[in-house]
Formats: sequence, structure tokens, C-alpha cells
Amino acid sequence: MNLELFNHIERAPDPSKALDMFPQLSAFYSALGNTTLMPVPGPEGGASILAKLEFENPFGSVKDRTAFGMFCEAINNHDFHKGSLKLLDSSGGNMGRALAMLGNLCNIAVHLVIPDSSPDVLVRALREANAQLTLVDSRYFLLGLMARAQEIALADPGWTLLAQHLNLVNVAVHRHGTGQEIRRQLRGGKAGGWVAAVGTGGTLSGVYAALAQDNPALNVLGTTPKELPFGTLSPPNGRDKFAGAGGMGFGFRQPFITHMKLNKLPFNLIGWQESLAAMYEFHKLTGIRIGASSAANWKSACRLAQTLKPGEQVVTLFADAGNDSDLEKGEVFFTSANRSNPAKIGY
Ligand SMILES: Cc1ncc(COP(=O)(O)O)c(C=O)c1O
Repeated sequence: MNLELFNHIERAPDPSKALDMFPQLSAFYSALGNTTLMPVPGPEGGASILAKLEFENPFGSVKDRTAFGMFCEAINNHDFHKGSLKLLDSSGGNMGRALAMLGNLCNIAVHLVIPDSSPDVLVRALREANAQLTLVDSRYFLLGLMARAQEIALADPGWTLLAQHLNLVNVAVHRHGTGQEIRRQLRGGKAGGWVAAVGTGGTLSGVYAALAQDNPALNVLGTTPKELPFGTLSPPNGRDKFAGAGGMGFGFRQPFITHMKLNKLPFNLIGWQESLAAMYEFHKLTGIRIGASSAANWKSACRLAQTLKPGEQVVTLFADAGNDSDLEKGEVFFTSANRSNPAKIGY
């Protein structure tokens, strides 16, 4: 399998050609980004925590940004005289949804390689958006998905493989988009900490590059599932874990993270049940629905905030708003965890 990074670009792709060719994208484009940066509960006596609410994006997740960036780049690079553009990528969920919706809007074929454990509601939504699907045994996780997508692209070069794990448009979109928005929203203040879950690592590395412009000593904390942590030597597995993130297995590391060349990048490990319980806890405290990776980031941000001083700011990102089923399970996990350890909460 090829793990080489490509598209070494200095800025997010120019959307002009895509918007000219497909004026139906304009409503999506005007609703994309500029999401709220909101103070959220944190530990007493520690730094305050600000969360970027990415579920405000038009298709409901942070991946709307990355999908649109890679979509524009593919359009910019494609010679439409030679034939139609056909897009292929692997996805655990949110990227697939965003690409399928964009493809459907513009009548561009989209082929998605997804785990065979994907929820029925996602599979139905992707099919309704006319995406072609290839299902891969979920035990192989990210490596299995990436390898299968590369195999499809090799067999039929008519597909443009977007390769969200290797395509540096992913990092550029966060460095020049999400990250610069956060800097503006901090109004001249600086972040003392940055916390993000690592799926591709595009969000963590891109926003880090932007925030480090104001604070080269920025404390970064990655969030990763306990069941398959970032960098683990263990083989991949199909165990329940918070969605959107995870290690690749066999000691492989997400290439965007390796590319950052940070001396120190600690990770906070969050278990599946803990992430779902935190979804419920956050909803109970604030009335706001967040997904499991967002809740895991919130817990990690609380941990980092405890180590920083009052007056400092930890920024994190809520990738999506999750689903009813996880929130219901979260209530059960939260209730049983707090029956055995009631002293744990309190802000
Ligand atoms: C819910 C959720 N959280 C976090 C992430 C991680 O984002 P990134 O791929 O930029 O590391 C993703 C990516 O798909 C996601 O869907």
C-alpha cells in the first residue's frame, strides 16, 4: 500500500472553477465554515475551554470542509474534455456523507469504501445520494479501507482517488480555514492548548499549524480510542470505539501526524463507554448535542485545562453532533459509572 503524501499546496484550493461549473453549490458554500467557537464547561481552577462547533456545517460535520477542499482540487486538476470526473475515497462515515452529497448535487459519480459495520442509516443515506459502495471487513479498520480504495483505483484509473489520509489538501483546509477562523475568534488572544481527535490527523495538524503562529509553545493533546490507540503495535480490530478516530495498527502512524515532526505529542486514551457517557453528560450540562469524538475531545480538553493556569485557553473541536442511539447508550453508561463513583463530576 502507498502511504506517500501528495498535493503539497500552500493554501486551500480555489473554489472558483467548482462554483462556476456547478452553481448549485452556492448554498452549500455560503453555509460552510465560520462555525461558532463556544466556551464549554471545564475544571475549576484550570484554563477555560473553547469548542469549535463543526456540526453547524451544512451536512453536519467537520468533514464538509475537507470534502469540499478535495472536491475543488479534483475539479481544478481534471480535464473535462477527456471524460467525466469520478471520485473515490475510503471513509468511516462523515467524509462519505459529505462526498456523496456533493457528488449528488453536481451529478459527479462517487464511490465510497466503508466498513461493513456502518450503521444502516448511513448506508441508506449514501445510497439515496447515489454513491456506489464497497464494504470492507471492519476488523481491518483504516488500513483495510485505504488498501481497498487503492486497489480499486489501480484496477480502474478512471476513478480519482481523493485519499483523505494522504492528500495534503486535508491539512491545508484546516491550516488556512478552520485554524485561521479560530485565530480570528480568539481576537488577538492566543490558545495555550489545542485538543483534537485523530482520524486522518488533518484537523489536529492543520489547526495546530495555525494556532502555533501565535504560540509556538502551544500544548497539543491528541484524543484517541483506548480500544485502538494512535500508533499501537497491535493489529487493527473491529471493537466498539468512538467514531471518527483510531490507530492504524501494526505500529503505523497517520502520515499527517508523522509529517508534523513534533518533539512531543501526548495522547489521551478514551474508551467507547466513557465517550458515550460524556456525550450524555455534556448534553445534560449544556443542552447541546455532541458526538462521541466531540465528547472524547471535551474530556481530553478538561484534562489539559487542569494542567494550565486560569486565564489560559484550551481550544478543541466538536466534529459532529452524534446520533440518538449513542446518546441513549451514553445515559446508561453515565448512570452506572456515577453510581459506582459519584464524586467524579462537578464543574
Ligand atoms: C466524528 C469525527 N471526529 C473526528 C474526526 C477526525 O478528523 P481528522 O480526520 O481530521 O483527524 C473525524 C473524521 O472523520 C470524525 O468523523
